[in-house]
Amino acid sequence: MLKNKILLVDDEKDIRDVMHLSLADMGYAVFEAQNGAEALAVFREVQPQVVLTDIKMPTMDGIELLQKVKHENPETEVVMITGHGDMDLAIKSLKYEATDFITKPINVDVLEIALKRAFDKIITRRKLREYTENLERLVREKTELQSHLSSLGLMIGSISHAIKGLLTGLDGGMYLLDSGFVKENQAQIKEGWEVVKLMIARIRKMILDILFYAKERDLKWERIDALSFADEVALVMEPRAKSQEIEFVRDFDLSVGEFEIDAGYVHSALINILENAVDACTRDESKKSHKIVLGVRQKEKHIAFDIFDNGIGMDSETKERLFTPFFSSKANKGTGLGLFISNKIIEQHRGEIIVKSTPGQGTLFTIRIPTMLPESAKRRPPKNMAEKP
Ligand SMILES: Nc1ncnc2c1ncn2[C@@H]1O[C@H](COP(=O)(O)OP(=O)(O)OP(=O)(O)O)[C@@H](O)[C@H]1O
Ligand SMILES: [Mg+2]
Repeated sequence: MLKNKILLVDDEKDIRDVMHLSLADMGYAVFEAQNGAEALAVFREVQPQVVLTDIKMPTMDGIELLQKVKHENPETEVVMITGHGDMDLAIKSLKYEATDFITKPINVDVLEIALKRAFDKIITRRKLREYTENLERLVREKTELQSHLSSLGLMIGSISHAIKGLLTGLDGGMYLLDSGFVKENQAQIKEGWEVVKLMIARIRKMILDILFYAKERDLKWERIDALSFADEVALVMEPRAKSQEIEFVRDFDLSVGEFEIDAGYVHSALINILENAVDACTRDESKKSHKIVLGVRQKEKHIAFDIFDNGIGMDSETKERLFTPFFSSKANKGTGLGLFISNKIIEQHRGEIIVKSTPGQGTLFTIRIPTMLPESAKRRPPKNMAEKP
């Protein structure tokens, strides 16, 4: 175990010698200085917990030394050694927060008790600090837990709201079915059944989306050629766009290189955003023709995908709430989880999504992904991923 350190300051060598022996006997590591200036130098070097100093010394006296030591490290305990008739000085030293004073000639027992008290004070103070820190940590954890609980409440509220919407749709379908059966109206039965199937498909998609987000999983990182990746995405989306009479344009910079991603996840993030683009076009009645442009380009250490549509565009409120879970302006047609999850995926790749949109004119989503990440960033989720809603 490390010995407790004491700095002994006295201008008389004989006194230092005698006291050094007693202190060493008590088990302390003793350092000496013969005046105030020297004491300060030794103090800075060895950082003793306790300073034991004569009160009367030439040049810098004990009281001045006490003040300087307390100024440098207020946690140091300083015990003063006083002569007979130095009572007023001794009392003055207490005002400057000396721990104690002992009078000459020194009684070893008195010295031992004074030093024990000084070290006890240090231990008590350390314990108090530990308790305070613990308490602060507990308070912090409690606050975090509370905010997790309240966002959990918010999440459950939003899920319930979304499911309620879908159930209303389901009710509508069942009503059509019921009255179709009563009237033996085949067309109505068929229509009702279609609605029921659609609503069930939506509920399934929503639950799968929630499960997707709720599960912790590691990404499977692989090096991918950005151009063939963009091609695969286009291959999925082009027929979907065309079926809605939307032109689909590829704007690929052929010189893009490779990047390291979990291709499955980034693929689904881009599809989400492209599906929104298709929706934005079909919901727009103001233009004769619609188009979606998928671009890919490289800028230094990033691959960027641009997804443009000339659909309905967004007002500022929509733009603000875009990534909020369950925010959707598509009534029963959307669950509002698409962009929330896409955003999480891009965040996990330490990338970003930038949105520019003008109501009535169209929207441009830019997804920027670093071409490579340090190993540590791949393993660790970004900060705000750690907290589950
Ligand atoms: N390209 C776009 N043009 C206009 N509005 C958009 C566009 N992309 C997203 N939005 C708006 O953002 C909202 C949230 O999109 P998000 O993909 O998260 O949910 P959603 O498409 O409504 O439902 P789903 O969970 O089925 O994807 C949309 O409802 C829509 O209002
Ligand atoms: Mg969507």
